[in-house]
Amino acid sequence: VSGPVRIALAGVGTVGAGVVKLLDTQADLLERRCGRRFTVTDVSARDRGRDRGVDLSGMRWHDDAVAMARTAEVDVVVELIGGADGPAKAVCEAALAAGRHVVTANKALLAHHGTALAGRAEDAGLTLAYEAAVAGGIPIIRSLREGLAGNALSRVYGILNGTCNYILTAMRETGRDFDDILAEAQTLGYAEADPSFDVDGIDAAHKLAILASVAFGTQVRLDAVHVEGIRHVSALDIEYAEQLGYRIKLLGIAGRAEGGAIVQRVHPCMVKFGAPIAHVDGVYNAVVAEGDFVGSTMYEGRGAGQGPTASAVVGDLMDIAAGRRSPTFGVPAGMLGTLPPAGMDRHVGAYYLRLMVIDQPGVFASIATALGEHRVSIESVLQRGRNPDDVVPVVMVTHETQEADMLRAVARIAAHPAVVERPTIIRIEAL
Ligand SMILES: NC(=O)c1ccc[n+]([C@@H]2O[C@H](COP(=O)([O-])OP(=O)(O)OC[C@H]3O[C@@H](n4cnc5c(N)ncnc54)[C@H](OP(=O)(O)O)[C@@H]3O)[C@@H](O)[C@H]2O)c1
Repeated sequence: VSGPVRIALAGVGTVGAGVVKLLDTQADLLERRCGRRFTVTDVSARDRGRDRGVDLSGMRWHDDAVAMARTAEVDVVVELIGGADGPAKAVCEAALAAGRHVVTANKALLAHHGTALAGRAEDAGLTLAYEAAVAGGIPIIRSLREGLAGNALSRVYGILNGTCNYILTAMRETGRDFDDILAEAQTLGYAEADPSFDVDGIDAAHKLAILASVAFGTQVRLDAVHVEGIRHVSALDIEYAEQLGYRIKLLGIAGRAEGGAIVQRVHPCMVKFGAPIAHVDGVYNAVVAEGDFVGSTMYEGRGAGQGPTASAVVGDLMDIAAGRRSPTFGVPAGMLGTLPPAGMDRHVGAYYLRLMVIDQPGVFASIATALGEHRVSIESVLQRGRNPDDVVPVVMVTHETQEADMLRAVARIAAHPAVVERPTIIRIEAL
């Protein structure tokens, strides 16, 4: 192979402009490493007049990104528009149909259509690369797919959303509540005006579905991910967690369950101080992969931002330039498994339970009875001083129990007249 790698860039926002900058700044370094230069010949975005902080003057402008993907004389189309459907999907499909490799940072697209797009790419002998879609600058796709290829993986989990990790970290450090910190994060630009994709766990679910596919060689199944966000995590629970020796993190966890099923779940977790991931704070992301030969490995870094994301996109471009290719999700698309998803009902683990109860004689006894009758046994109880007839928090940690039992017990407790708020339950993870 020789000659420059010709690139069409669809979308020149935060990431797109970062890619243009990186390719320019590192041109010589990249050439020494892969023997070729990169040239962005074609470009498309919505507003031609917008200043993007990069010079696009030598590039052919297209108002229609899909038409560009279909017709531009390039080797690679880089899709940095975003969104699960719409123009991003049409751009990728058009590029593959026209025989161009595709690089994207679009986790929503891959979580919804990853298996189908991988099939199209592989049928055409093309690369569909997406390192930037999961954990931003951390080269986690490569690490799982190439670096750990000699292992059967049992579990992959991580902090996959920097916005949530920032909010939880700030809540702990300041003792302030969710809404307050969210508003501040929006002002600082760490959270979007519409934060629901982040704080409701959807973005983390997109990334987990992709990770699980690579880790376990199964089709991408976003619909099989159990998703809960962080809106219901309170400063009070974070404080109790600290007292009990835990940190609260929003984790995405994918692992093998009994019978070969793969469980995928995103929800707030209590993690012991001693676990390395408990100390990944602020906007940082981290992923832990557990393999049968390698043991536990952890990868940490910036999960978003212009530089880290561009770094991942260009890593993908380097593979294409050098002719390195792996099956999109580690196994040829047609051979990806279709294992049944496992439900949360059969999840087994310890739980944190916080009740707000009116301090009256006999209340605690009836709570204990309800738990006992559903086979939930209590490991420890935190109760601050007595305050007869006032509302007091009762905090408990259970031994390992089945989720279905726990939920039935808590439903019964919630119906007790002395229990005044909806009980808070947070799963405790043994990591
Ligand atoms: N930002 C990050 O840190 C980060 C990290 C990891 C992954 N990602 C992913 O990277 C992708 C891009 O994110 P971003 O933050 O760079 O977004 P962004 O700043 O909003 O940029 C999106 C770009 O797409 C262009 N665009 C929108 N609709 C278009 C259309 N129909 N045709 C052509 N261009 C169109 C926009 O044009 P105008 O500029 O003219 O409006 C803009 O240049 C997303 O999939 C995102 O999930 C981002």
